[in-house]
Amino acid sequence: MADRQAWDLAFDPATGRRLTQQDVGNGNLLPSGRWPSFFSRVAARLQWDAKAIDLAPDARAWPELPDERRERLIALLAGFCVAEDAVAVHLAPFGDAANNSLVAWVLFLQRRDEQRHAMIFDRIVAEVLELPGDTKDERRDAARAHAPAGVLELFEERLPAMAGELAAGRTGVDTGIGLYHMILEGIVLAAGQCALLADLDDGALPGVRQGVERVERDERWHIGFGLRCLVEARPSPEVIDGVLASAQDAAGAWGDAVPREICEAVAPNCRRRLAVAKLLEPRAAAV
Ligand SMILES: [Fe+2]
Ligand SMILES: [Fe+2]
Repeated sequence: MADRQAWDLAFDPATGRRLTQQDVGNGNLLPSGRWPSFFSRVAARLQWDAKAIDLAPDARAWPELPDERRERLIALLAGFCVAEDAVAVHLAPFGDAANNSLVAWVLFLQRRDEQRHAMIFDRIVAEVLELPGDTKDERRDAARAHAPAGVLELFEERLPAMAGELAAGRTGVDTGIGLYHMILEGIVLAAGQCALLADLDDGALPGVRQGVERVERDERWHIGFGLRCLVEARPSPEVIDGVLASAQDAAGAWGDAVPREICEAVAPNCRRRLAVAKLLEPRAAAV
């Protein structure tokens, strides 16, 4: 029991599922010294091929969808095209900042996932939405015109600015993970995935749905891993306050593309995760 950590009593990082006391059992879920290896095993189990998903039925179905539905889906899918590319690029400085070779290895595995996510959304905008562009970069430029302004601001301004500060050693890894894993992945991308999965529940675009399901499964371990890194980083009360303040607005970054009820369901997850990880306690003690 001594090395069982408080947060893994209630949260399974591999699935994002809340654990009950029965689920936890008597053993140690994640002994403290081995936690990076745990995440590398989860990553290995979840590998998939973004080139293998068949998007041909989706391409045939797309022109038949009602205009209003297509407009909402374009905003979401173009937003993911921009966002996944940005997170794949700007995860790079976290490896050095982590100052731990095992954690850096898991960050490498996460970055490989993000590159795979960028690839499936590039395929979707090229093959299903048929956005113009002969290269991935040209198609991402085309996607920008359709992505919600709030998503562009977070992923193309705030994220690169933070990554630059992290690479220069002017900001801590706790601030970086607070934005990247807790806000961008844990709130913004999660709200977008939830909206896409709900919209595509009728099987209208089966290949797109399959891709989003795979991405969402990967993101669960990324968020759990980020939370575990944050526990290790011992963030200051100011960093935690900053994360909580950003979480309030982050779910709204998608504008009308994500229904209000999804935003309201996802937004409290940031505080819940920090509470489960016992990261709100030092903050309360400092008040
Ligand atoms: Fe991703
Ligand atoms: Fe991710």
